[in-house]
Amino acid sequence: MAKQSWNVLVTGGAGYIGSHTVFELLQADFGVVVVDDLSNAYRADNETKPESLLRIEKLTNKKVPFYSCDINNYSDLKDVFKKNKFDSVIHFAALKAVGESCEKPLEYYKTNVCGTLNLLKVMREFNVKCCVYSSSATVYGTPEKLPLVENMKTGDCANPYGKTKYMVEEILKDLCAADKTWSVISLRYFNPVGAHPSGQIGEDPTGIPNNLMPYIAQVAVNKRDVLYVYGNDYDTPDGTGVRDYIHIMDLAAGHIKAMIYQKDRSRVGFKAINLGTGRGYSVLEVIKAFEKASGRKISYKIVERRAGDVATSYADPSLAKKELGWQATKNIDDMCIDAWRWQRNNPNGYMSKN
Ligand SMILES: NC(=O)c1ccc[n+]([C@@H]2O[C@H](COP(=O)([O-])OP(=O)(O)OC[C@H]3O[C@@H](n4cnc5c(N)ncnc54)[C@H](O)[C@@H]3O)[C@@H](O)[C@H]2O)c1
Repeated sequence: MAKQSWNVLVTGGAGYIGSHTVFELLQADFGVVVVDDLSNAYRADNETKPESLLRIEKLTNKKVPFYSCDINNYSDLKDVFKKNKFDSVIHFAALKAVGESCEKPLEYYKTNVCGTLNLLKVMREFNVKCCVYSSSATVYGTPEKLPLVENMKTGDCANPYGKTKYMVEEILKDLCAADKTWSVISLRYFNPVGAHPSGQIGEDPTGIPNNLMPYIAQVAVNKRDVLYVYGNDYDTPDGTGVRDYIHIMDLAAGHIKAMIYQKDRSRVGFKAINLGTGRGYSVLEVIKAFEKASGRKISYKIVERRAGDVATSYADPSLAKKELGWQATKNIDDMCIDAWRWQRNNPNGYMSKN
């Protein structure tokens, strides 16, 4: 790929999706600076950078400038912009646990909505008006029709986390309508899973994993006894919930495409684009694929449905193909093989010796 002259600020770049995207940005020769408050990323006591970024530096042989900074802190964020010249921002930093958002809504609104407002304010002050935003399929709420298409209704979200993603999309739309020099692509992720094929970077949930794949992986390494499957009486082929899983490297590649799309055009305005494969897998299918990848038996137990869960959700990914020239390349077996390699190599995530 041709050398990119763009310098990109990545907020939340030490986290799961951010770290894989930082890797891809460096591979594509973008300049990268990371800010992260390390609220959900591990840094060893004697280190200045989070472990995920240290491993990326080793893998790419490139340095990743890092600032430990809360996006809610206006003066710290301003300092980062004073010290660096940015062309664009990829904004990952957020709190993301659906259940926790119901218990601590104010924390979620503060980080996800107020933090984003703070970032946008600083961006405007420094005339950085180009942004890729981490949105989510949760903005669609309960699907009225499948597959989910970008022009469908959004906003009927079942929890504060989903509402924060919806609210920020609305703010970004209003911003782009008011000032035509802004360019914002809101990427609506489906279910990111898997890890970098090196097995060096991956998803490192603290406490009990909220998502299916890391939970299965922890059962596979005997860190957890049993996987709970929430309901087997949905209107799906095997009764368990069906979701559109997307390999993290495909997702990361989608950000590079979005960035190049913005770089090549002077005015983009606001665009929402799905990143998914367009194909759903049931919980039982994912368990089977993981058993095949790992050679381990996954014990599971069927329990009651969870409030707010829908039977089936999958993307129409055709807009991403048409606009960005992006489509997913990896299937469920690739996702499980890479998730397993990461988990096996790092049973305790980034705290594992490597
Ligand atoms: N993982 C998913 O399933 C999923 C799905 C859809 C959308 N998203 C969105 O993608 C983004 C990244 O998610 P992820 O899975 O990589 O999560 P993650 O928790 O691994 O990464 C988020 C990073 O942001 C940092 N952070 C949190 N609050 C911050 C603050 N106030 N200031 C600075 N940094 C802060 C955390 O320390 C963490 O490193 C989030 O916006 C999330 O809502 C994730």
